Amino acid sequence: MSESPPPVPVGEPGGHIRRAVCPGSFDPVTNGHLDIIGRAAHLYDELVVAVFINQAKSSLFTVEERRELLTDVTADYGNVRIDSFHGLVVDYCREHGISVIVKGLRAVSDFDYELQMAQMNRGLAGVDTLFMPTNPEYSFLASSLVKEIAKWGGDVSSLVPPNVLKGLIERASATE
Ligand code: PNS
Repeated sequence: MSESPPPVPVGEPGGHIRRAVCPGSFDPVTNGHLDIIGRAAHLYDELVVAVFINQAKSSLFTVEERRELLTDVTADYGNVRIDSFHGLVVDYCREHGISVIVKGLRAVSDFDYELQMAQMNRGLAGVDTLFMPTNPEYSFLASSLVKEIAKWGGDVSSLVPPNVLKGLIERASATE
């Protein structure tokens, strides 16, 4: 019986790069997102954080601003890349050789919809989804709440990284 050859180490010619995508609106990125991004970056050779361009939804930060904020806060991770996409996430995966989508789950309430999307994405293109439970410290955290609190002058300094805080304060003072 012939033995199968040993796997080619990552980084060598023919090596298999394990690449995942963390898609989302990131309007704006929060400490909860960063927790998931940091942990996922340890699991894969390359993690792409992809901002979904959704013309049907109004946003506080432009796609470019969201990308810049993400680039800043992930600068210490050598294997995290920031991108944006429109259309289906599975098409993005196909075009970029990505076989796994990483999603954070805050609570059971997230699960129904996330499971539905995960099963749909697997059915559509064979792309699997890895669910990561968020750190309980962030289980209540959502970009929408952060925006609402910041808009009315509430303190969100423990919920978002400093560059995002600065952006939120600038926007809140511009609409006063
Ligand atoms: O941060 P969000 O808004 O919860 O992220 C949702 C997102 C962007 C991950 C999800 O809406 C998505 O994957 N959109 C891309 C379009 C798509 O593929 N839709 C079909 C999903 S089954």
